[in-house]
Amino acid sequence: MKEIFKGQSFIFILVLILPLGISQLDSNEKYRWDCSSDADNSTSFKANLDTLLNSLTQNVALHSGFYKTTVGEYSDKIYGLVQCRADVSAENCANCTKQSVATALKECSTSKSVQVWFTWCTLRYSNNKFFGVMDSSSSARLNFTNLENSSMILRGVSFMKGVASAAATQRLRFNASVFDAGQFGKRYGMAQCIRDISKGDCSKCLESPLETFTLLEDKRNWEVHGTSCSMWYHDYQFFSNISISTNHVLILPLGISQLDSNEKYRWDCSSDADNSTSFKANLDTLLNSLTQNVALHNGFYKTTVREYSDKIYGLVQCRADVSADNCANCTKQSVATALKECSTSNSVQIWFTWCTLRYSNKKFFGVMDSSLSSKLNFTNLENVSMILRGVSFMKGVASAAATQRLRFNASVFDAGQFGKRYGMAQCIRDISKGDCSKCLESPLETFHLFEDKRNWEVYGTSCSMWYHDYQFFSNISIPTNHGARRKSIHGVLTGTTMAMILMFLFLL
Ligand SMILES: *[C@@H]1O[C@H](CO)[C@@H](O)[C@H](O)[C@H]1NC(C)=O
Ligand SMILES: *[C@@H]1O[C@H](CO)[C@@H](O)[C@H](O)[C@H]1NC(C)=O
Ligand SMILES: *[C@@H]1O[C@H](CO)[C@@H](O)[C@H](O)[C@H]1NC(C)=O
Ligand SMILES: *[C@@H]1O[C@H](CO)[C@@H](O)[C@H](O)[C@H]1NC(C)=O
Ligand SMILES: *[C@@H]1O[C@H](CO)[C@@H](O)[C@H](O)[C@H]1NC(C)=O
Ligand SMILES: *[C@@H]1O[C@H](CO)[C@@H](O)[C@H](O)[C@H]1NC(C)=O
Ligand SMILES: *[C@@H]1O[C@H](CO)[C@@H](O)[C@H](O)[C@H]1NC(C)=O
Ligand SMILES: *[C@@H]1O[C@H](CO)[C@@H](O)[C@H](O)[C@H]1NC(C)=O
Ligand SMILES: *[C@@H]1O[C@H](CO)[C@@H](O)[C@H](O)[C@H]1NC(C)=O
Ligand SMILES: *[C@@H]1O[C@H](CO)[C@@H](O)[C@H](O)[C@H]1NC(C)=O
Ligand SMILES: *[C@@H]1O[C@H](CO)[C@@H](O)[C@H](O)[C@H]1NC(C)=O
Ligand SMILES: *[C@@H]1O[C@H](CO)[C@@H](O)[C@H](O)[C@H]1NC(C)=O
Repeated sequence: MKEIFKGQSFIFILVLILPLGISQLDSNEKYRWDCSSDADNSTSFKANLDTLLNSLTQNVALHSGFYKTTVGEYSDKIYGLVQCRADVSAENCANCTKQSVATALKECSTSKSVQVWFTWCTLRYSNNKFFGVMDSSSSARLNFTNLENSSMILRGVSFMKGVASAAATQRLRFNASVFDAGQFGKRYGMAQCIRDISKGDCSKCLESPLETFTLLEDKRNWEVHGTSCSMWYHDYQFFSNISISTNHVLILPLGISQLDSNEKYRWDCSSDADNSTSFKANLDTLLNSLTQNVALHNGFYKTTVREYSDKIYGLVQCRADVSADNCANCTKQSVATALKECSTSNSVQIWFTWCTLRYSNKKFFGVMDSSLSSKLNFTNLENVSMILRGVSFMKGVASAAATQRLRFNASVFDAGQFGKRYGMAQCIRDISKGDCSKCLESPLETFHLFEDKRNWEVYGTSCSMWYHDYQFFSNISIPTNHGARRKSIHGVLTGTTMAMILMFLFLL
């Protein structure tokens, strides 16, 4: 076991103001690379390596930030793996992987064993099998001049031991937490292992620097970047996309019950058709581009192909709580549905629970269309005392969604003795705040059928809404309330089990 220690001076990074009120987020910096001295100059190695690196680059963002694969057989085999920090978005993960691949090819083009570290991801490949094997070598970055108050020294390390042991037990081998040290301020910690090592190995890997690097103890800002695990400790919140509550962090899925699943809901094919091969070819190009790009663009992508009378406008949007891989899969399913059900239609929209796909030869970008349909359960009714409260809660959700950049909101309403209600609203992201608000309000004001229902969903051209008496959404943090939690049952009470009616309203 080698312990590399690099006391590089710590460079403070830019301050970004993000929607969630997060300060001093870190950015993605190239940190270090490690090239083995044994080289292979053969063209076959080069070709296999290119195949491997392409596959890693294309797959990592679609696999929740962790992907490993091999290329070649026997003596030619190369093992490769890339992992992103769990708080990093799919887009940033894909970009970080690209940067790592470029670094590897530039700095270590013929080395047989390489690891590259950026702040947000690490890339590793080798002709020796390393999958699932823990290697505790690591290096550290710290700021030697920014020291802890002596009363804090043991508390900081002990906080990080807690973060380390929490990370080891989790499926993603990841934890991020906040420690409120009162008069000394807050400390932010994060730990992550390569996801394919065991719980015990992860724990060992994270504990070794905490026990060995006594230099860390009195520092207010340090990072350890290891072969199989990494850790971050700062006196400011450097991570994003994790919501924090007082002394710890909540990232959902936590405490989620009855998550919904992705169901095909409806499709709408225009009767005007185009049977030409050029339309077919353009459509294929468009749909490929949407499929490849949506998960890399935070679940919203629009584009056009061709010009003039041949032009096709296309857009796909995923529900904001859906992961990048589910978004990509939902888009694929929608494309398949469009090609099956509406292959020659000029204007098409497909709705699944988790995404909607729309394309047309007419420009619809940025234009609000309040036509919609709904699903509801007629037998599961609200207590009369709840009727106005449910609708008024959803009006709040609608107006919160309209003001947000992602045109999205999810909230929980604790109605005391009547239980909780869960609401979600989302507009197509390219419509204005005012149009989003109009689109979401119109069903609430028009569909009096909703008022006494405990479960309903609206799927519109430009906006959608969900209202349930169980928590159907995931990956969104909600304030923790006291009260009994339901047993977790996957996919219960979704579109297939709910009495489904279709109503079409074409509002002015
Ligand atoms: C180390 O921390 C001190 C105190 O916050 C800061 O002034 C200094 O810029 C930091 N050093 C580096 C190299 O960033
Ligand atoms: C990709 O990452 C590099 C290196 O961190 C950064 O300079 C660049 O701006 C990033 N590009 C995008 C599109 O995020
Ligand atoms: C590989 O090429 C580099 C320079 O391109 C050379 O220095 C090295 O000796 C070569 N190694 C082998 C094993 O051929
Ligand atoms: C966090 O998510 C937001 C929105 O999806 C994204 O813009 C941001 O870059 C993400 N942060 C990181 C570190 O990936
Ligand atoms: C440590 O904290 C105590 C109590 O807040 C304070 O009196 C003392 O000056 C601090 N020492 C340093 C080195 O910051
Ligand atoms: C980190 O671990 C703590 C303690 O187990 C837990 O409460 C918290 O939810 C975890 N946070 C994340 C982001 O995994
Ligand atoms: C993709 O979505 C379909 C339809 O919802 C589902 O049946 C399938 O299991 C999903 N595949 C993956 C890999 O998530
Ligand atoms: C397109 O093809 C379908 C069947 O393949 C046919 O019913 C329809 O009339 C054709 N439409 C045009 C505009 O050619
Ligand atoms: C929420 O995120 C987790 C972990 O990334 C993923 O497994 C799950 O499928 C996501 N839920 C949805 C609805 O995408
Ligand atoms: C409505 O709630 C009240 C108070 O909890 C209860 O007495 C009544 O039976 C409920 N009515 C229905 C129809 O559930
Ligand atoms: C929804 O809106 C409420 C009220 O504005 C806000 O407190 C909450 O953070 C929002 N939730 C999401 C997930 O956007
Ligand atoms: C409607 O809700 C009731 C009460 O929760 C449930 O028993 C019933 O199965 C639901 N109807 C359908 C068709 O799912």
